[in-house]
Amino acid sequence: MAARVIDGKAFAATVRGKVAEHVAQLKAQGITPGLAVVLVGADPASEVYVRSKGKQTVEAGMHSVEKRLPATASEDEVLSIIEALNGDPDVHGILVQLPLPGHLDESRILATVDPAKDVDGFHISNAGLLATGQKAMVPCTPLGSLMLLRDLHGDLTGMEAVVIGRSNIVGKPMAQLLLRDNCTVTIAHSRTRDLPAVVRRADIVVAAVGRAGMVSGDWLKPGSTVIDVGITRIPTESGKDRIVGDCDYASCAEVAGAITPVPGGVGPMTIACLLANTLTACCRANG
Ligand code: GUN
Repeated sequence: MAARVIDGKAFAATVRGKVAEHVAQLKAQGITPGLAVVLVGADPASEVYVRSKGKQTVEAGMHSVEKRLPATASEDEVLSIIEALNGDPDVHGILVQLPLPGHLDESRILATVDPAKDVDGFHISNAGLLATGQKAMVPCTPLGSLMLLRDLHGDLTGMEAVVIGRSNIVGKPMAQLLLRDNCTVTIAHSRTRDLPAVVRRADIVVAAVGRAGMVSGDWLKPGSTVIDVGITRIPTESGKDRIVGDCDYASCAEVAGAITPVPGGVGPMTIACLLANTLTACCRANG
């Protein structure tokens, strides 16, 4: 039987609508949540994300700030922009677009963002709070994925979850969130032995490795839920890139019980959660 297709686009629109309603209430009290995005260089995929973030921030009624620096910017230049944003009372959320040019120390730059404004949840304080089960800013892609899973299943207690990928941005925080929701969690990665056998145990599979079509339908337990976080651009003859996920959609959709499409699954949830995190940061800043 064909899998149910999880409509992340529609769900994200609902989240954005709720955020916009709350923003309107805050604005009536004279408070406007603000989100600043720092983009260093002109990576084409980052340009697309940043444009989309700016547009959706404004649509939600928020104040949007964009700080662009050339790819040759020094670390001190980037740090001084972040410090200025840390001190700006109109900015409640700061996002440093990744990847950064290779000469910049990503850890140092991310550690400079005020943890209270760290709407990406990449600061080590927020990672530590999440890992120890405390109130944290949670990275947007895992948060959006969890929202889709909760919407589909309700209580996730006792489910077997396999997260493929151990990045700080998706894999590790995703595993923490699933653990917090009482799943039995395995993190698989490039050195995992017999990955198909590990994936076949899972009621929930989260694929976040960035390898187009790697997970094939015959790896899955029938009826399992597949959350595909991968986004790979494949050039086509028409000149327009085709975007594909980490899962081979056709074969996975035959075996899974539910699956997120790419595009239109997890992707739209990331920005919706970014707006939700900015709203949260603004509410905390204003008591
Ligand atoms: N680059 C790709 N995805 C993301 C994201 O979620 N946050 C940031 N800061 N950079 C990214």
